[in-house]
Amino acid sequence: MKNKDIILLGIESSCDDTSVAVIKNETILSNVTASQDVHKAWGGVVPELASRAHQQNIVPVVHEAIKKAGITKEELTAIAFTRGPGLLGSLIVGTSFAKALALALNIPLIEVHHMEAHVLAHFIDGQSDKKPSFPFLCLTVSGGHTQIVLVRDFLDMEIVGSTKDDAAGEAFDKTAKLLGLPYPGGPLIDKYAKLGNPNAFQFTKPKVSDFDYSFSGLKTNILQFLQKNQKVNSAFIQDNLNDICASVQKTIIDILFEKLIAAVRHFDIQDIAIAGGVSANSGLRTKLQEEGKKRGWHTHIPKFEYCTDNGAMIAITGYYQYRAGNFVDQRIAATARWAVGSKE
Ligand code: KG4
Ligand code: ZN
Repeated sequence: MKNKDIILLGIESSCDDTSVAVIKNETILSNVTASQDVHKAWGGVVPELASRAHQQNIVPVVHEAIKKAGITKEELTAIAFTRGPGLLGSLIVGTSFAKALALALNIPLIEVHHMEAHVLAHFIDGQSDKKPSFPFLCLTVSGGHTQIVLVRDFLDMEIVGSTKDDAAGEAFDKTAKLLGLPYPGGPLIDKYAKLGNPNAFQFTKPKVSDFDYSFSGLKTNILQFLQKNQKVNSAFIQDNLNDICASVQKTIIDILFEKLIAAVRHFDIQDIAIAGGVSANSGLRTKLQEEGKKRGWHTHIPKFEYCTDNGAMIAITGYYQYRAGNFVDQRIAATARWAVGSKE
């Protein structure tokens, strides 16, 4: 007899995207995202505005996801939601909604770790020829995290390196702010970098032990570099925007890869993946392909739409949790801090 299909709703609300997906087994039926433009004027995500926008968006986004999937809510097997880590007020919106819907439909509730979900985005349908084999190493780079993750199995991950201060996405966004670009600056730096010379300017690289990272020094270095050059030419940024973006992007990618290569050697693993919002960066994607070719790695790059925050990655992680029988009850609460691989 054929096993019954598992149809899950995945709800993501950890930062500034309200995103909901419907998955049938490992196939995404819909993935709907409402991004929040309200933060642009403030140069970064304003937590209180984010919570409010999630509250406005959640019901329409869920409706749209269910409609696009061509199902009714009564067909859902379970509800998966991001419990953390992230902005507490934002997480509470998705968590409360997921709890209420699971209660109303009398179906199981599944908690999902946001960073584990970024990694598992690699297992979403349509990427079957590219699915990593276990164990693999995943460089997970987002606005809040920078981690080298040793992935032993779907739900068995260990962080072997992480940032001591700023995340790689923050390095992109803070640099963009110094250059007068709007939030989020990462995609804009990527855009201008394509037109510039990556060797035009040199920036200092941090000295951090093992497979860990640090990006706060780079920000200071860039600030001092800009101030020095603006004293001589007040239009320095406008005159050199493409070269500055290309040089900063190259520096961030070089920093990321120095430790990734060291970790690959240490763990002697050949399946290497990237994930998280910064894995949408064209320079980082090209670099992984180039290094992989040179070093004989099997490289894995997520589909563009599954790099930045999305409900689909929550739904696929929920699917593996469902198969493992991992459910939570109505006393569950969102958490701003939550280490990969731990219970809390
Ligand atoms: O994973 P994500 O959507 O949210 C978090 O979990 O933080 O990542 C957002 C981060 C932002 O810092 C954004 O600037 C960065 O990903 N990002 C990029 C690109 N697209 C998004 N950074 C560099 N190049 C890009 N193309
Ligand atoms: Zn994320």
